[in-house]
Amino acid sequence: MKLSERLLKGLNEQVTMENESAYKYDGMRLYFKELGSPGAEKWLTVQAHEELSHAEDFINFILDVDGKLEPLGTFEQQPVDYHSYLDVFEKGLEHEKEISASILRLLEIAIEEKNYAAENFLRSYVDEQVEEEDNFRGVIDMIKLAGDDTAALFKVDSILGKRE
Ligand SMILES: [Fe+2]
Repeated sequence: MKLSERLLKGLNEQVTMENESAYKYDGMRLYFKELGSPGAEKWLTVQAHEELSHAEDFINFILDVDGKLEPLGTFEQQPVDYHSYLDVFEKGLEHEKEISASILRLLEIAIEEKNYAAENFLRSYVDEQVEEEDNFRGVIDMIKLAGDDTAALFKVDSILGKRE
């Protein structure tokens, strides 16, 4: 089940992308920390940790099939200033869609190369991405429902804070 060079390269790049996702969500977390919204801050803390565990998953897979780890990439600077709850979660959803597209590109390579181990691993991440996008969409729906009602938004924040 040896990885081809391009699959290995793509999987290694995905490690950086997952780490960078954590960094992006940390920037979003800081926006809420400064704003004084503990629930959204907590939600994004959990999300950032999840991204780090995705990176570790990709690392473990590469090593499990005797692949070689490549140097970690650099991150882009991440903003900590956003306009609103909606702005943050819409940008989060956009980001998850980019991650999904990247995973699908890798899966297509694995299928093309008949690398079944990589295919299975990546398919589990297709499911994961469906869940990730749905999580963000769910929060966006709640925020939209709250609208300009501060009390309702306060309630949304407390719901977000329950994420474990
Ligand atoms: Fe991820």
